[in-house]
Amino acid sequence: MMSKAMNDAINKQINAEMYSAYLYLAMAAHFESKTLPGFANWMKVQAAEEMDHAMRFYKFVNETSGRVVLDAIAKPPTNWKSPLAVFQTVCEHEAKVTSLINDLAALADKIKDRATGVFLHWFITEQVEEEANAKEIADTLEMIGESTGQLLMIDRQLGKRKAGGD
Ligand code: FEO
Repeated sequence: MMSKAMNDAINKQINAEMYSAYLYLAMAAHFESKTLPGFANWMKVQAAEEMDHAMRFYKFVNETSGRVVLDAIAKPPTNWKSPLAVFQTVCEHEAKVTSLINDLAALADKIKDRATGVFLHWFITEQVEEEANAKEIADTLEMIGESTGQLLMIDRQLGKRKAGGD
C-alpha cells in the first residue's frame, strides 16, 4: 500500500505530466500558426507521450491502492519569438521535470518505498532521452541561425516523428 506522502507526491507529478502535455500542445498550436507542420507534428507526438507518462503514474497509484486526485492544469504560454526559443523552453522544462522525478526517487529512498523506487527507474531513463532529444534540436536550430531554407529542412525531418518513436 502506498504511503500518503508518496500518493500526494505522485498526484502532483500526474499534474506536472499533464501540464507538460498541455505545454507541448500549446507549442504545436504555435507552430501550426507559423505554418511549420513538421514542428507541430513533433510537438503533438511529444504531447501524447506526456499523457502516456501521466497515465503510467495514474495506473501505478491505482495498482498500489492509492487514490488519484486530479488538480487544475496551469495555462501554458501561447507564443514564442522563434523556433529556437520554443526548444530552449523545452530544454528548461525537461530539466525541471527531471528534477521532479529525482525528488520522487529521493522520497522513495527516504521512506524505503522500494516499489515506487523501481517504478521510477523507467522515468529516470526516459528523462535522459527527453533532455538529449530537446537539446539536439535546440543545438541544430542555434547552428542554422536565420536560414529559412534550413528551417524548412528541419521541419520536414521533424514531420517524420511518429508516436512510439524518439
Ligand atoms: Fe514526462 Fe517530458 O517528461
